[in-house]
Amino acid sequence: MQVLVTGGVGYIGSHTVVSLLEAGHSVIVVDNLVNSKIETLDKIKQITNKDIIFYQVDVTDESAVENIFTNHSIDGIIHFAGLKAVSESVERPLTYYYNNLVSTLVLVKVCQKYNVNRFVFSSSATVYGDNKVPFVESMNLFPTTNPYGETKAISERILIDITKANPAFSLAILRYFNPVGAHESGLIGEAPNGIPNNLMPYVTQVAKGKLNKLRVFGNDYPTTDGTGVRDFIHVTDLAEGHVAALDYLTAGTHIYNLGTGEGTSVLELIHAFEVANEIKVPYEIVERRPGDIASCYADTTKAKQELGWVAKRDIIEMCRDAWRFEKNYKE
Ligand code: NAD
Ligand code: UFG
Repeated sequence: MQVLVTGGVGYIGSHTVVSLLEAGHSVIVVDNLVNSKIETLDKIKQITNKDIIFYQVDVTDESAVENIFTNHSIDGIIHFAGLKAVSESVERPLTYYYNNLVSTLVLVKVCQKYNVNRFVFSSSATVYGDNKVPFVESMNLFPTTNPYGETKAISERILIDITKANPAFSLAILRYFNPVGAHESGLIGEAPNGIPNNLMPYVTQVAKGKLNKLRVFGNDYPTTDGTGVRDFIHVTDLAEGHVAALDYLTAGTHIYNLGTGEGTSVLELIHAFEVANEIKVPYEIVERRPGDIASCYADTTKAKQELGWVAKRDIIEMCRDAWRFEKNYKE
């Protein structure tokens, strides 16, 4: 298939481009580089030995997107492009709603005009809110606690309605749990701008000595050791989940959790990182972070049954690969 990947220079997108190329698909990447670096494309070429067509385009720009559809015959889309920093979304809700919703609307509109009927959307476990774990796709969704989360919940609803009205349209909504790790080559990985918000990049930067100490947000949650529990998933497993979803797609809406089904606490993750890499991660316990939930992990039955996909890489591999990338990474 010829696959258009929006946000394909970013963290999850770049790993998915690698998996798509390795599975024999050809790829067109569209990214405005607002949160990524063009050098990543060279790294992808280094890993795969394959060429990628690239457009530096903002996906909210309808005529620029349409131009790509007139230049190429596209079989399917994976739509990663979006802004994702939770705290920034609270400070700049308009920017988040505009970017994340308009990009999705433009893409679907152009897809319909050019008869492109396979659409894979990056959603998030955040749409489950504070439901009871494990989260199952059929659950009623709870409100999210921030504009970023709302953009995912609203996008899901828009896409589901459009799919209902267009019997030929095939939609996969993929709800990611906590993607971590990096490609085993150490060439591509997660490189957030400024001080990281998320746990794993914070841990790797503390290990590197870029940051002094990790702050563990709360140890009084109703979990095994009191710290938050998450379903960390290796980004390469996540990437492979996209290829499986794209291959499987049939008309209608299909929603899948992409997680491992295993909960790991913050302290367990720190310990795994220390064991995997033989390096200490100094930390202190501080207050809970507002908006955090105690536990979040997936029921993965549906993806396994329908897509034949399961996450294969364990927490040690996630920690090892995350560290290999951070060690080599130069700003
Ligand atoms: P990322 O920021 O690394 O990648 C997103 C890419 O999209 C970046 O390269 C950015 O430059 C690009 N982009 C943003 N807005 C754009 C626009 N209007 N036009 C063109 N390009 C644009 O983020 P990621 O972690 O790879 O996340 C990919 C997707 O997965 C996002 O939609 C994100 O919300 C979703 N998601 C991420 C996580 C996570 O923890 N990383 C969890 C759940 C869902
Ligand atoms: N944590 C710390 N210290 C830190 C950072 C995080 O203790 O410096 C803790 C958090 O309190 C939480 C856990 O580590 O218990 C994971 O936090 P992350 O920020 O890494 O991830 P979240 O689960 O909060 O959110 C992530 C993405 C969201 C996405 C969600 C889906 O950031 O975009 O996963 O499950 F919606």
